[in-house]
Amino acid sequence: MSILEIQNLCKTFGKLKAVDDLCMTIEEGQAVAFIGQNGAGKSTTMRTIAGLSSPDSGSVKISGFDIASSPVEARQHLGYVPQELSLYRYLTGDEYLSLIAKIRGLSADETEKQISELLNLCDLDAARNRLIREYSGGMARKIAMAGALIGTPDLVVLDESFVGLDPESTYKLGRYLKSYVLRGRAILISSHVLDMLHSMCTRFFILHHGQCVADYTLEQVNEICSSPDTPNLTALYLRKTGQAELIEKQ
Ligand SMILES: Nc1ncnc2c1ncn2[C@@H]1O[C@H](COP(=O)(O)OP(=O)(O)OP(=O)(O)O)[C@@H](O)[C@H]1O
Ligand SMILES: [Mg+2]
Repeated sequence: MSILEIQNLCKTFGKLKAVDDLCMTIEEGQAVAFIGQNGAGKSTTMRTIAGLSSPDSGSVKISGFDIASSPVEARQHLGYVPQELSLYRYLTGDEYLSLIAKIRGLSADETEKQISELLNLCDLDAARNRLIREYSGGMARKIAMAGALIGTPDLVVLDESFVGLDPESTYKLGRYLKSYVLRGRAILISSHVLDMLHSMCTRFFILHHGQCVADYTLEQVNEICSSPDTPNLTALYLRKTGQAELIEKQ
């Protein structure tokens, strides 16, 4: 069984096709980069995966559970950080993570163990008992990521979650996500920082006007990027989105 199965997903806003007949299957062990221009439809797709936006047609299954007909079971297997954070600002970091751990059914011992590990990973130990409303932008994004990861859900969806993170947090969280998928989980991550995605992901999915225009493994990307006319992931992205004329000017 696939961890994520999106079939023929369509979402329109008025006359605009934000997501256009999208199909995507993610298996365990995959860290998938979700790449595309501003407005390509990444966040709309991710919100639909999380059950926060209802599609016009098509379906989303997480670990076999349909997000429309079995939302509670599907969300039990999902960690999601939206592009626009919505956190419980009047909880402390510790209270916030404890709440999610409780919803995910973790034991008291497991809750304490995972909270300590994640706060340490995010360099938030010292801020554990401070209200989230007092956190800096990067600290808030890190506590949201810790919330998505607690309970090790099958699928973690991160929408621009690395924006504003300091270099050491980016490095540590990137390394953690790589090991996370090796535990039989999967990650879908959108970002415009293609070098970072190249170092972190095992699969590269390019969305253009709501449609898939490329779906490559890391091996395929490395093979393509060994040629002088497509020297890196940015050049590959520009080619696939019809902007090859910009490659020379990089
Ligand atoms: N609630 C909405 N009402 C109307 N249009 C919307 C709404 N949400 C998204 N859109 C439109 O749908 C398209 C896809 O938006 P989306 O936020 O999914 O893009 P994105 O790929 O996440 O872009 P970015 O890289 O800027 O985050 C855009 O044209 C956007 O204007
Ligand atoms: Mg977006």
